[in-house]
Amino acid sequence: MTDPAVQSPEKSWIVGQFEGRAPEAHGISWSKIWDVGKSDLWDRGKTSPALVDIVEKYQKPGEMFQPFAADGRRRRVLVPGCGRGYDVIMLALHGFDAYGLDISATGVAAAEAFASKELQNPGAANFGLNHDSKSQSRGSVKFLEGNFFAPEWEKDAGGKFDIVYDYTFLCALHPTMRRNWASRMASLLQKDGLLTCLEFPMYKDRTLPGPPWGLNGVHWNLLAKGGDGIDIDDTTSIGKEGEGSFNRILYVQPERTHEAGQGTDMLSVYKRK
Ligand SMILES: C[S@@+](CC[C@H](N)C(=O)[O-])C[C@H]1O[C@@H](n2cnc3c(N)ncnc32)[C@H](O)[C@@H]1O
Repeated sequence: MTDPAVQSPEKSWIVGQFEGRAPEAHGISWSKIWDVGKSDLWDRGKTSPALVDIVEKYQKPGEMFQPFAADGRRRRVLVPGCGRGYDVIMLALHGFDAYGLDISATGVAAAEAFASKELQNPGAANFGLNHDSKSQSRGSVKFLEGNFFAPEWEKDAGGKFDIVYDYTFLCALHPTMRRNWASRMASLLQKDGLLTCLEFPMYKDRTLPGPPWGLNGVHWNLLAKGGDGIDIDDTTSIGKEGEGSFNRILYVQPERTHEAGQGTDMLSVYKRK
C-alpha cells in the first residue's frame, strides 16, 4: 500500500514543519499548523467508527466500556491530541465525562465550536445502527489546552482517568517521545484503567519520516514490554514481555474504521497494572 503521508506534496509539507526543531518542542509546530488552517491534513470529519463499535459492544454493567463506576459516578475519559474533538463528543454521548486535550489554542477553540453545535443535534456517525441513543444519558464535555507531557493542565482535569483513547496522537509524536508517552499514559490512568488505541498507521515503514510515524509493533513494545518503542525488533533492547506497565486485554481488527486505515488499523485495549 502506498503511504499518502510520503507521496502527496501536502503531507510532505507537514513532515517539513518539524524539521530542525527538538522533539520536545514539536508542539510549536502543531500549533502553527492549526494557526495556518491546515488541520484538514489529518481531520477525518467524524468520530472513529471503530471506537463507536467497541464502546457499544461493551457498555453493559460489568463490561469494559460501561459509563458508570461501581460507586455510581460517571467514568472519566481523556482524549489527548483530540483535534476537533469528534471522539470526545462521541464518548460524552455514550455517558462518559469526557475530556479533550490539545496543545493548540486554535484547535481547542475549533473543538469547542464543534461541540456546541454537535451536542445540540448529534450526527448519526456518533452511534451504531442498533444503538438506542434516545435512552442513553450523556456525560459532560471539557476541552483543555495543554501539553500532554507537562502537568499544568491536570489541575483543571480533576484527577486520574478511567479510560484514555489514543487515535493519531502517538503517531504524531517523534519516536524519541514514545517512552514518555507510555509513562504519561501510565501515570494519568487509575490502576486497572484502560488505554484504548486505534493503532494507525500500521502499513507505514517505521523508518520513514513522519508525522504520521509508522507504528506497527510499537504499542506492544512500549506498553507490554516496557521498551522504547523504537528498537522493537532487537531482542537485546530494553524491555521484555511482562515488564511494561500494561496488560493487553483486547486486540482486534475493527470491521469499521476510517478509510485511511481500512484493512490495516488495529484496535487494542491495555489495562494499567
Ligand atoms: C494528527 S492530529 C490528530 C487529531 C485528532 N486525534 C484527530 O483524529 O483528528 C494530532 C493532534 O495532537 C495535538 N498535539 C500534538 N502534540 C501535542 C502535545 N504534546 N500535547 C497535546 N496535544 C498535542 C496537535 O495539535 C493535533 O491536534
